Parts: sequence; C-alpha cells; structure tokens
Amino acid sequence: MWGLAPLNPPITHWAERRVWLVGASSGIGEALAKALYRLGASVVVSARNAEALQALTEAHPGMTSLPLDATDPSAVTAAAHALESQGRLDLVVYCAGYYKPMRVDAWHTDELERHWRVNVQGWWHVLAAVMPLMRARGHGHLCAVSSVAGYRALPKALAYGPTKSALSHLMQGLYIDLRPAGIGVSVVSPGFVSTPMTAQNDFQMPALISPDEAAQAILRGWAKGEFEIHFPKRFTRFLKVLSLLPWRWYFALMRRLDQ
Ligand SMILES: NC(=O)c1ccc[n+]([C@@H]2O[C@H](COP(=O)([O-])OP(=O)(O)OC[C@H]3O[C@@H](n4cnc5c(N)ncnc54)[C@H](OP(=O)(O)O)[C@@H]3O)[C@@H](O)[C@H]2O)c1
Repeated sequence: MWGLAPLNPPITHWAERRVWLVGASSGIGEALAKALYRLGASVVVSARNAEALQALTEAHPGMTSLPLDATDPSAVTAAAHALESQGRLDLVVYCAGYYKPMRVDAWHTDELERHWRVNVQGWWHVLAAVMPLMRARGHGHLCAVSSVAGYRALPKALAYGPTKSALSHLMQGLYIDLRPAGIGVSVVSPGFVSTPMTAQNDFQMPALISPDEAAQAILRGWAKGEFEIHFPKRFTRFLKVLSLLPWRWYFALMRRLDQ
C-alpha cells in the first residue's frame, strides 16, 4: 500500500498528445510550450497578449494560438469547447499568474482581488470547462503552476502568497477526487525563475533559474509521475524544512530576512 508507485501516470511520450497551456505568452508558460513542441506534442497556447502568442506560433508551425482572458468565464468555456470539438485534450496546464508585492502599509483591496481573479478563479473557469470532459472519458491530466510562496507566509506577499496557498490546496483536493477517476493531477512549485514577473523584484533572488530550466524540471516531474513538482531543489528543499519550523522560530527568521 505504501510502495513507491508514481502518484500519477508518468508522461514520457509527447507525440500525439494535445496540450493546452493557459498563460503561455511569456515566462514559464512560453518556455514550456516550446519544450513540449520540440518533443512533438500538439500545443495550444492562450493568454491575453495576442501579438506575443502570434509570434510564438509563427516561430513554431503547427502550434496554435487561442488568445483569451482567463478571468472571463464565458471566453474560457468557449475556448475549451472549441478545442475539444477539434480533438481531445490530454493535458491542461494553468501557468497564468499575477504578482505585485504588497505589505500592510500598501493594503489595496482591488489589487488583492486581482490576484485572486488571475491566480485562482481563472483556473476554476478552466477546470469547470475541461474537467467534466476528462471525467467522462477517464483520461487526462490537470496541472497548475503554484509557488513556494504558498508554503508559508513570506515578506511582501500579502496579496500573492494566499492565492498560491489556496491553489496548492485546491490541487491536493483535486488529486484526491480525480486520481481514482483516471485523471492525473499535478502542482508545480517553482522557486525564483527569471521572467517578466520577477523582473520587478528589487532584491537578489536566491537560486534563480531560467524559464527553460523550469520547463525541463516540469517535464522531468511529469515523466516521474510526481504530484508536486518543485525546483530548484537546493532552494525548495530549504523552504520545505523552514515550513516545518515552530512558528516562533519561523517568524524570527522571517524578521531577520526582511531587514
Ligand atoms: N517567475 C517565478 O519566479 C515564479 C515563481 C513561482 C511561481 N511562479 C508562477 O509561475 C506562473 C508563470 O509566471 P511567470 O514567472 O512565467 O510570469 P510571466 O512571464 O509574467 O507569465 C505570466 C503569464 O500569465 C498570463 N496571464 C496573466 N494574466 C492573465 C489572464 N487574465 N488571462 C490569461 N493569461 C494571463 C500572462 O500573459 P498575458 O499578460 O498575455 O495575459 C503570461 O503569459 C505564475 O503562476 C507565477 O505565479 C513564478
């Protein structure tokens, strides 16, 4: 019962697989789209920036662009149904994300809501559209890109951190419900990756990796059938240990790091 069987069916062969990446106009999603394309997957890329998506698909003949705003449920439903009418989706990945540093002295409800709309509710809309189809056929894999910021609270992440905590929690619940139905579920917890999102950070990011390295780590995680795909390990393992500390020690450490 407690053997080391993979938590998900490993995905190693990509030819003939149809993948929909939401949030693929830049950063991790874009790098993942390119890596999957090189492996022979049939890739559909979505995000709001239609021009960036067009440039991506023009450089990768056969890749398809489907611009949308993930926070618009009717646009997401229409896109999912259009895609499914052309053939079944094997893997759906939610890479869309929004991050603005926030502390209590800059509390801003509109900004808080925007984080929830993009980081969590957009994924709800995608799930509502694709999950019934995957459940009906007992096949498919759902993956969301969360963050190590969801493990425990970090400085300046009052808006972003709780959304990633919720997203990681949601993926655990989905695994419990969907894995017995034949559907793979995985969550990605990156450390720092050099993308437009982190370009706004005004501090030295430890263990920073490139989007291509992130994409390769995600592919390795899917190939091993992992549930949580976290990287780079030298950073994420350290944060996992921190998240086991008693609160007194954890908060003391955060105070020191925050100076
Ligand atoms: N970079 C890191 O260090 C890091 C660390 C941990 C987790 N992550 C997570 O990794 C994911 C990818 O982030 P990234 O670093 O690659 O940043 P990024 O380059 O800014 O990518 C974010 C993507 O989300 C899309 N997006 C944003 N709002 C959207 C919306 N309303 N509808 C559809 N797409 C939307 C953006 O495209 P459009 O603007 O064209 O819509 C873009 O393609 C995010 O979930 C982020 O939280 C990143």
